[in-house]
Amino acid sequence: MPAVTQIVRLNVNGDLREIGVPMHFTLLETLRYELGLTGSKQGCDKGDCGACTVILDGRPTLSCITPVCEAEGHSVITVEGLADADGPHPLQDAFDLHGAAQCGFCTPGILCSAIALLEQTTSPSRREVKEALAGNLCRCTGYSKIYDAVMSAAQRLQVEAHLDRSHR
Ligand code: FES
Ligand code: FES
Repeated sequence: MPAVTQIVRLNVNGDLREIGVPMHFTLLETLRYELGLTGSKQGCDKGDCGACTVILDGRPTLSCITPVCEAEGHSVITVEGLADADGPHPLQDAFDLHGAAQCGFCTPGILCSAIALLEQTTSPSRREVKEALAGNLCRCTGYSKIYDAVMSAAQRLQVEAHLDRSHR
């Protein structure tokens, strides 16, 4: 018997998408298997590792435990939506500069968690950065370079905001 589907309307990376998905689908399954956005990873698939983190209305969200219907009408940003026409997000540049990038499984979620923090504040303490990334697990890093990169991106965002204000 075919799976019962529902129509959902999502705003993903600034694009409005209307799709039919099985009733039981999570946001992660919808992103990966219906929309082809495979940057968000299916790690533990039970809310433990952070690999599936996306930004939902500005908040870091575990998409593997979020029913897709809960994202209806809300803004979803995935790792594919972090760069824009001007180039990579300042945090992506900072990851490059500081050698902070880890593997393709953990890095997308780490970027999304960190950017959600930087959207709240461009002057986080190192402790706040650590807390923001506490749910993004990677056994392969000591996290130092990642924290350095987030602090560096925060400084750049502060400078850019200052220049923006002074040119108005
Ligand atoms: S895949 Fe979602 S928390 Fe691990
Ligand atoms: S899980 Fe990605 S490098 Fe450790």
